[in-house]
Amino acid sequence: TTVFVFNGPNLNLLGVRRPDVYGTTVLADVEALCRDECARHDLELDFRQTNHEGVLVDWVQEAGAAVKAGTALGAVLNAAAYTHTSVALHDAVEGAELPTIEVHVSNVHGRETFRHHSYVSPVAAGIVVGFGVTGYALAIDGLVRLRRPSRS
Ligand code: DQA
Repeated sequence: TTVFVFNGPNLNLLGVRRPDVYGTTVLADVEALCRDECARHDLELDFRQTNHEGVLVDWVQEAGAAVKAGTALGAVLNAAAYTHTSVALHDAVEGAELPTIEVHVSNVHGRETFRHHSYVSPVAAGIVVGFGVTGYALAIDGLVRLRRPSRS
């Protein structure tokens, strides 16, 4: 069984861009920590990053189909800046009925007001904000606890 972790725009620059806000951990290290967390739960990890909104929409649809087929549990989604702009992503998560945990490395509510609104939050099963990259592991654990209550 697979857990998807989808990363949006500029997260390829994690660890380099604004280390004061996002820390110095690079995305490959985030992938490694997600892989460890999935292994702890006997789950496979499918970890991806894109700078393109439509690609995220395609991936959400693909992940929703995998959940329906019984081969995946759900997705962890850091849509980055598209969180605050993308009706398409909102509609994709809703339409795919994809169990989604929204993640943000930084505490978006302590930052600029344009980061306070999320199009993903209303259709997310849960939200993890402000824990740094550890939030990805918390999100995977939370997804498992929501979807497999007896196993956690
Ligand atoms: C982010 C927060 C977003 O506001 C921002 O656009 C990002 C990263 C985070 O993980 O803290 O690119 O999603």
